[in-house]
Amino acid sequence: MDKIAFIGAGAMTEAIVKGVIKAELLPAPHIWVTNHANEERLQRMHAVYGVTVTRNQNELLQETDIIILSVKPKDAEQALRSLGVAQLGKQQIVVSLMAGITTAYLESFLPAGQPVIRVMPNTSATILEAATAIAAGTYTDKQQLQLVKRLFGTVGSAVEVGEELMDAVTAISGSGPAYIYYLMEALEEASSQVGLDEDIGKQLLIQTFKGAAAMLEQSELSSAQLRANITSAGGTTAAGIAVLENQNVKAAVKACVQAAAVRSKEMGQAYSK
Ligand SMILES: NC(=O)c1ccc[n+]([C@@H]2O[C@H](COP(=O)([O-])OP(=O)(O)OC[C@H]3O[C@@H](n4cnc5c(N)ncnc54)[C@H](OP(=O)(O)O)[C@@H]3O)[C@@H](O)[C@H]2O)c1
Repeated sequence: MDKIAFIGAGAMTEAIVKGVIKAELLPAPHIWVTNHANEERLQRMHAVYGVTVTRNQNELLQETDIIILSVKPKDAEQALRSLGVAQLGKQQIVVSLMAGITTAYLESFLPAGQPVIRVMPNTSATILEAATAIAAGTYTDKQQLQLVKRLFGTVGSAVEVGEELMDAVTAISGSGPAYIYYLMEALEEASSQVGLDEDIGKQLLIQTFKGAAAMLEQSELSSAQLRANITSAGGTTAAGIAVLENQNVKAAVKACVQAAAVRSKEMGQAYSK
């Protein structure tokens, strides 16, 4: 891989750029970035990361192995119209990060046979800890899929799924970091309420999250079993969990994921007409 190009220079592009540079997958100047209008943002990306920035699409796309569409779903059509009139080579892979936008829609703007891959990363790409799912379009071969998997593997872990599961993935791991931050917010507030100093509470909570995630990763036990193992009848954990159960927290979490999946589907339908 010699050159990759990002169309869109927002939060997700920045997270992946940071990760790819940290992982030394390719030198920063071989990463090209463009956006719609915000020149200041492009210049900042160049100054901070050393990436090449341009608003000349021909230059951006020339000899680019992977073209990453990183605009909001509402801007999909405009970005695709512009990409559709470019002279893309058949070896150039178009990757879309756009929530809800199907590969069929992407392919409808591109020359017949163009390889397209739909990817759903998350913002933890910034620290090489992204959870990414990848779904192949109609004309993608195994090698191209592996190449894109390797790219996203440098910023965390990447798994292949059928495209019909992408709304579910978006709702779980795409939006997932925000749910965890929400939970952390609540726990931080609770930790102050029970009298802990803000910094100490935060430090204890972060390590508790890291430790619990690592336990789950390294143990053969399920999350339910791990929880049961540390919840003795009449103990402190049991008292806390009883409140979560009474307040139907599990049902709320499931409804949260359902709503995100529905929204992903709606966005796809709204912006892929
Ligand atoms: N953020 C997340 O946690 C997350 C997670 C998974 C997937 N995603 C997906 O990643 C994509 C990008 O999200 P984001 O949060 O990075 O968005 P963002 O911060 O709003 O950035 C969007 C970028 O797209 C550019 N843009 C808009 N229209 C364009 C066009 N026609 N041609 C070229 N560039 C154009 C904008 O340029 P200007 O600033 O010049 O207008 C801006 O740089 C979305 O599709 C989202 O679904 C995001």
